[in-house]
Amino acid sequence: SDAVIIDTDPGLDDAIAILFALGCGRFDVLGLTSVAGNIGIEQTTANAGSLLRLMGSSVPVAIGAARPLRRESIDEAAIHGDDGLGGVVLKPSDAPPLPDAVAWMTEQLTSRPAHTVDVLALGPLTNLARLIETHPEAAARIGRVIAMGGAIDEKGNVGPNSEFNFASDPEALQVVLVARLDLTLIPLDVTRRVRADAAYLESLRGTAHGEVAAALLRAYFHDGRESRPLHDPCVMLFALAPDIFAIERMRLAVDLVDDPGAIRVTPDGWPAQVAMAVDTERALSLLRGGFI
Ligand code: BDR
Ligand code: CA
Repeated sequence: SDAVIIDTDPGLDDAIAILFALGCGRFDVLGLTSVAGNIGIEQTTANAGSLLRLMGSSVPVAIGAARPLRRESIDEAAIHGDDGLGGVVLKPSDAPPLPDAVAWMTEQLTSRPAHTVDVLALGPLTNLARLIETHPEAAARIGRVIAMGGAIDEKGNVGPNSEFNFASDPEALQVVLVARLDLTLIPLDVTRRVRADAAYLESLRGTAHGEVAAALLRAYFHDGRESRPLHDPCVMLFALAPDIFAIERMRLAVDLVDDPGAIRVTPDGWPAQVAMAVDTERALSLLRGGFI
């Protein structure tokens, strides 16, 4: 199984992704690093700890960036609630978080063989960018970076073409692109095709973690929509089953000015892999399997 660091801003779909990663038994999760995104850093850190406790996991949470590299945060409380988990109350962690996500990542990456730790990035890329800027030799030891973010042919969910994670910290995406890591983006083009609906929600019932996952999804449906995209869980799916995605190699640049965080495909951009299509049925059936 893959050793992974989950970099996250929980966040309802982050929470589903984390429960899946811990519950499916197919990842060696080394720990979670928190980042401000869907909600502030104190809350994302606390939520990460609560999710680990729920799953009986003793791996650490390390506190990451409280704000983007060079901008103010975008507030998403309207979607994820003031607590980031849509009012679903979980027991707080009884382990204090580690103080410094970048230091902890560096330690993990340098104490293991090179290219054996993947980073699963579910929020703004601030922590990864800071790792690259301050400890480039540690960053170069990362295996794969699989990041949820961006929109290629799809419209954005923040600006006309910009998606929340990249719009939150476009300068961080730029740093990650320039570093030329083994980077795969999972954009809205794919995540909008992997949707939880009422039938999916029902299918999760019956196990303790399935119940919590169902409660989180119900909160995610709060505005009466019939289905919701499972953005962040798609990162876990790509890590496990890349063959259910259609991957394209592209050269990408990021807009820092007009529609910050929007991605442009351009011959003078930086190379990355981008998931452009997914087998929806196989994706949902894999996600179901993980909770049982
Ligand atoms: C991304 O933004 C966040 O609100 C979600 O958790 C996901 O990571 C989707 O644009
Ligand atoms: Ca997220």
